[in-house]
Amino acid sequence: MVRPHFLLVTFPIQGHINPGLQFAKRLIRLGAHVTFVTTVVASRRMAKTPDLGGLSFSTYSDGYDDGFKDGDDPSNYMSEIKRRGSQALTDLVVSSANEGRPFTGLVYTILLPWAADVARELHLPSALLWIQPAMVLEIYYYFFNGYGDVIRNSSNDPSSPVQLPGLPLLTSRDLPSFLLASNTYTFMLPTLQEQLEALEKERKPRILVNTFDALEPEALRAIEKFNLIGIGPLTPSAFLDGKDPSDNSFGGDLFRSSKDYIEWLNSKPESSVIYVSFGSLLELSKQQMEEIARGLLDSGRPFLWVIRDKQSGEKEEEEDKLSCKEELEEKGKIVPWCSQLEVLSHPSLGCFVTHCGWNSTLESLVFGMPVVAFPHWSDQGTNAKLIEDVWKTGVRVTANEDGIVESEEIKRCLELVIEGGEKGERLRRNARKWRNLAREASKEGGSSYENLKSFVDEIGEARC
Ligand code: UDX
Repeated sequence: MVRPHFLLVTFPIQGHINPGLQFAKRLIRLGAHVTFVTTVVASRRMAKTPDLGGLSFSTYSDGYDDGFKDGDDPSNYMSEIKRRGSQALTDLVVSSANEGRPFTGLVYTILLPWAADVARELHLPSALLWIQPAMVLEIYYYFFNGYGDVIRNSSNDPSSPVQLPGLPLLTSRDLPSFLLASNTYTFMLPTLQEQLEALEKERKPRILVNTFDALEPEALRAIEKFNLIGIGPLTPSAFLDGKDPSDNSFGGDLFRSSKDYIEWLNSKPESSVIYVSFGSLLELSKQQMEEIARGLLDSGRPFLWVIRDKQSGEKEEEEDKLSCKEELEEKGKIVPWCSQLEVLSHPSLGCFVTHCGWNSTLESLVFGMPVVAFPHWSDQGTNAKLIEDVWKTGVRVTANEDGIVESEEIKRCLELVIEGGEKGERLRRNARKWRNLAREASKEGGSSYENLKSFVDEIGEARC
């Protein structure tokens, strides 16, 4: 069998780069080579990248080498990245073959459906790395296969239930935001449709899902014509099977991290700190920031809050949206970025207030951390539904009629999760249960480990 050589291309945002890099490390541990492809701007922003044998990097220009700025047209961006990315991948496949290092497979993340076309044209086996839950893929599939109107119209009556085959009853707030009538990211729908169409061009397309069998047993089997393979959680191995203690970060941060928060965490009692983070993309309104600040202060607990620095071209500095900044700094700690893994694994952590991005959601499970679910858009409402009603590891905030989550509501949820008597204890017990199952799935002999191994073997054999 030849040593498999994978071409791995991710959409250039943190939430896709992190699982992508971790996926690359897993492939390498299983004996493969990986060439990780990303854009000029993402590569320039990455503070450092993992330095390990078998992993190489390649960059291409998406036409936005100074970054995507406020006012830039997302539809134009999507067509530029498609045009330039397709050419770059094609050139790379051809040149690697000429140099005697041919690729044996191509893996691409969501939003890059054109990568599947490149693979098909060059007769390369391919797989989609789905970096959200299998349930979200299922909902997208139903949307384009008979349930479009039911889903779209659900926003007309937010309390009316939506029944999709094999899924729990959902309401509009549980559905991916891009599918609702209220969606303003109009470029997303055609991209998602293109993604599903690209898959349907193949017989039984392989979809590697950053989830694990025990976490989403039904969703992984729901779409018969797809081959959904649970290979997650794609969290660094030091926190899972513990086999490689040096693999304790994703590598590839696009933001500059603070350094002093660990000392601050060290000074706090066990399980006392509230960690607040809304991921790498979300920008909150001034009113929402103020409500969060008040809720945290009124909780009377120490908190570590990630408020990202402005990237070039963005509008108002997030921190400038806070009128009570001094009080916040006195009672808690604000950082522009941190190692979320380091924070979640710290003994002083007691609760995670998260926007429910899928990586953060999985990380909450890996560290057995109960959650206040504060979803905003994309897959986050579905992830919050899973957290609150399926795995029962957290409580979800409720917004007022203007879409703002008020400080009282934030304080109520925090108290429930951190103290909360029997309910709080149940959340913590469930969180511990999922932590153990996530570790189980990741170790040798576990479902995710074995699923990924079979995938690598299959790709290796395909080119024998
Ligand atoms: C995006 C989408 O918004 C999300 O809904 C989708 O599921 C994945 O892509 P993002 O919003 O960045 O992701 O959130 P998330 O998926 O949680 O990824 C953020 C990553 O950044 C996590 O791996 C987290 O550990 C890391 N992070 C975040 C840090 O390392 N430090 C921080 O300070 C904040």
